[in-house]
Amino acid sequence: MPRILDGVAIAKAIKQEVAEEVKALAAKGIRPGLAAVLVGHAPASEIYVRSKVQTCADLGIFSELITPPDTVITEEMLDLVASLNDRDDIDGILIQLPLPPQVDTKALLDAVSPSKDVDGFHPVNAGRLQAGRPALAPCTPAGIIEILKRSGIPIAGQHAVVVGRSDIVGKPAAMLLLHQNATVTICHSKTRDLGAVTRQADILVAAIGRPGFITREMVKPGATLIDVGINRITTREEFDRYFAGNANREASFAKRGSTIVGDVDPKAFELAGAYTPVPGGVGPLTIAMLMANTVRAAKLRRGL
Ligand code: GUN
Repeated sequence: MPRILDGVAIAKAIKQEVAEEVKALAAKGIRPGLAAVLVGHAPASEIYVRSKVQTCADLGIFSELITPPDTVITEEMLDLVASLNDRDDIDGILIQLPLPPQVDTKALLDAVSPSKDVDGFHPVNAGRLQAGRPALAPCTPAGIIEILKRSGIPIAGQHAVVVGRSDIVGKPAAMLLLHQNATVTICHSKTRDLGAVTRQADILVAAIGRPGFITREMVKPGATLIDVGINRITTREEFDRYFAGNANREASFAKRGSTIVGDVDPKAFELAGAYTPVPGGVGPLTIAMLMANTVRAAKLRRGL
């Protein structure tokens, strides 16, 4: 039986450690602060941001939710970011993506002070990360490393194959795995004979954004599968493809009319040595690492 890597439990442990750090900082008169900027009413974004703000409250981190109108333009957003960069009570600035099309997302992310860039999206932090200098690293990739380390899964010398080359997950995940001395291969939509590469993986990171993309034939038996995908499926046909015979899923699908599948076909998990489930695997780590980054930014900015 493969081992299930419990992201909820690992995230809880990290949040407890962060709460201890927040307490220690409070004794020095320091309260880390996060500004969360949300434009629009995309349900997923609203859920994420609400959860981020709630977690700040749980851990004793100050937070401020800023919701500019849907019609906001780039210049107004740049002014907002400039004011947040200047505020001493704000250590982290999180701009929830995606932004509406009239806003220049790159210009905005570039305007966030690298010292307050708790998402690790600024090119300065991306550059520091690849150069092996201290940097605020993107939360989901940092969470992947925490899952592996805290589960005692060796990384050094292992062949890690990352499928997906996004700036937010694939590229930084590859860099962090490399810094842990993995042998790293990055695959993407143009990779020839993808299965031949993924079958070499001791650690396979699936960050493609397509439901059930990694199938059984693409997995080496005993590999560790890290599934970053969050794909909502709504049709009976898709449901049956991934979850036929799964009573728990059946009940929640019947109730909600949808369920979530990762980028790994659940049938491929059966072959794994260990895997992160969806939901309850990588997802919970993203917010935990955001909290950790906020406290880290608070300390770094004060030279602690
Ligand atoms: N949208 C989806 N994931 C993320 C994330 O990790 N950070 C931000 N800011 N926006 C997102």
